[in-house]
Amino acid sequence: MGSLGHLTGTAVQPDRRAGELDTQRKEGVGGTHIPVLFHAVLDGLFVRPGGRYIDATVGGGGHAAGILAASSPAGHLLGLDRDPAAVEAARAHLSSYAGRVVLVHSSFACLAEVARVCHFFPADGILFDLGLSSLQLADPSRGFAFMAAGPLDMRFDPTQDGPTAAALVNGLSPEELAALLYRYGEERQARRIAGAIVAARPLHTTLELAAVVERAVGRRGRIHPATRTFQALRIAVNEELAALEAALPQAVEILAPGGRLAVIGFHSLEDRLVKRFLARESRDCICPPEAPVCTCGHRAMLRLVTRKPVRPAADEVAANPRSRSARLRVAEKRGGEGGKGGKGTKGKGR
Ligand SMILES: C[S@@+](CC[C@H](N)C(=O)[O-])C[C@H]1O[C@@H](n2cnc3c(N)ncnc32)[C@H](O)[C@@H]1O
Repeated sequence: MGSLGHLTGTAVQPDRRAGELDTQRKEGVGGTHIPVLFHAVLDGLFVRPGGRYIDATVGGGGHAAGILAASSPAGHLLGLDRDPAAVEAARAHLSSYAGRVVLVHSSFACLAEVARVCHFFPADGILFDLGLSSLQLADPSRGFAFMAAGPLDMRFDPTQDGPTAAALVNGLSPEELAALLYRYGEERQARRIAGAIVAARPLHTTLELAAVVERAVGRRGRIHPATRTFQALRIAVNEELAALEAALPQAVEILAPGGRLAVIGFHSLEDRLVKRFLARESRDCICPPEAPVCTCGHRAMLRLVTRKPVRPAADEVAANPRSRSARLRVAEKRGGEGGKGGKGTKGKGR
């Protein structure tokens, strides 16, 4: 396994995960990770025997196992994860495919470099299943869960030097904290929560933070009042949107003509970023509409396979509440027309 470092960068927005509380309850401790939209992903990636695929967020290896099975007997998979514990979990889960798998501890922000070094350039399909895995949520020592006591960490990669959630919570000014909660959590009560945090700090544990937020804004409905605060801190700690912004153009570069890009996002900021990127890269001209002639010289690199995002069906949501907010978008690299035949994933957007 290599370690190719990680880029981190900017910020994202909030999560409208209705049922987050349910999810944390069901997956609270000792959860397993159920891959979301499993068949839609395999279909969208157009996995075929002998193909070469990249899982940029290999996690526990659930989607990766499906890709390896569907690409048998000679398909290969490169799996990346920023979390060294996820890489080890994937290694164990994928042990029966050992000769066909390469696993690398790296951020997908370094995707092109990793793919080159590992000889997965070009690739036939690339998957991003963004965010947090149930394995990470279920381990209180990682600090992602507001339902279990743990340190305020929230780093996907605990070996990274970047700030922990505790450093942000205890170190930012009230204004900075409110801006972070608003920007990455779309938290309407950002100022009130930031004020309460500043008055209560230093805060050291997830439960302390969750209690401070709950005291500040009260509890209404099934969504825990700290959901958006935890999401915002996680996004900021890991600079999740910056990594995604850096990785998407690299994915297009790596894909072979006709190769597929599949991205599962779990909140509006992620999905908006993916949607805009795919829309832009599937258009020839990106000049402003008022421009009389095209001066941009932009050429479409992609063909949209899903015009609307694929959402999980009700039975999947019932079995796996984490899937509730999942949105899958798929595009194909141009230049391979005729090769994939119409086996596209049909958008079922609401
Ligand atoms: C939803 S889980 C993926 C689960 C996986 N598809 C499965 O079936 O088991 C998301 C994973 O992405 C990883 N991750 C988040 N940001 C990353 C990044 N910038 N680079 C690589 N991995 C990242 C997380 O550590 C987590 O393991």
